[in-house]
Amino acid sequence: LDGGTLPWDLAGRHVVVTSGGTREEIDPVRFLGNRSSGKQGHAIAAVAAARGARVTLVTSSDLPVPAAVEAVHIESALELREETLRAAAHADVVVKAAAVADFRPADVSESKLKKGSESEPAEIRLQRNPDILADLVAARSAGDVPAPCVLVGFAAETGDSSGSVLEHGRAKLSRKGCDLLVVNEVGRDTTFGQDDNGGWILGADGAETTLDRASKDLLADRLLDAVTALSLRRTR
Ligand code: CTP
Ligand code: CA
Repeated sequence: LDGGTLPWDLAGRHVVVTSGGTREEIDPVRFLGNRSSGKQGHAIAAVAAARGARVTLVTSSDLPVPAAVEAVHIESALELREETLRAAAHADVVVKAAAVADFRPADVSESKLKKGSESEPAEIRLQRNPDILADLVAARSAGDVPAPCVLVGFAAETGDSSGSVLEHGRAKLSRKGCDLLVVNEVGRDTTFGQDDNGGWILGADGAETTLDRASKDLLADRLLDAVTALSLRRTR
C-alpha cells in the first residue's frame, strides 16, 4: 500500500487494535501459546495510523511496532483484557485481531517444573479465560465504552461436519454481539504467519463482503473501509 494514496479519513479517531497470540504462563520459563504471528493486527494498526488515526496497539507480538503507533505490550489474556478495556474507554473503534487463549493453566508454578521431582506434572489443569470481545460488548452497553464505538472481531475457522467456515462465522458473530466479524479460513499452512489473508467481513446488519486472498495490508485497508462506512451510518 502506498501511504500517499490512502484517505486521511480517520483523523481525530482513536483506534485500538489487539494483535498476536497470548501466552499463558505454566512456570517461569514455559507458556501455552498459539500460532498467531500478529502480522494482521500490526497491519491494521499501521494502515489506521496512515489514514490519520491515533492508534493504540495492545500486543503480545515481537514484531516491530509500526510508525506512529503507540504499543502496549502484554502476555496473557488477563493482561490483554485489562489493557484493552482501559484503552477502549475512549475509543472510536476496537479491532480484536489477537488470538486469545481460551484457557490458561489453573495453577502457575512459581519455580521451574523439574523432571523427576515431586512436582513433575502428570497433567496441566486448565481454566477458562474471560471472553474479552464479549466483555467489550457488555462494557459498551453499560456505558464504559462509547456507544458509537465500532467493535470488530476476528474468527479463524475451519469447516467441519457441523458447518462451513462461513456458517461458523455467522453463528460466532451473533454469539459475540460485535458489529463486524472478519472470518478467515485456517489450516496449518494458511493465514497464521503468512503475509496474505482471505475470507469475509460479516456485518451484524447482514452485510457480507468477500475478501479475495491479498496482502494483510490490503485486507486492513478494506476492513477500515467497512468500519468507516458503519460509523458514518451510526453518527448520521
Ligand atoms: N476473543 C476474546 N476473548 C477470548 C476469546 C476470543 O476477545 N477469550 C476474541 C478474539 O480476539 C476474536 C474473537 O473473539 O476477535 C473470536 O475468537 P475465537 O477464538 O474465534 O472465538 P471463541 O469465542 O473463542 O470461539 P472458539 O470456541 O471457536 O475458539
Ligand atoms: Ca477461541
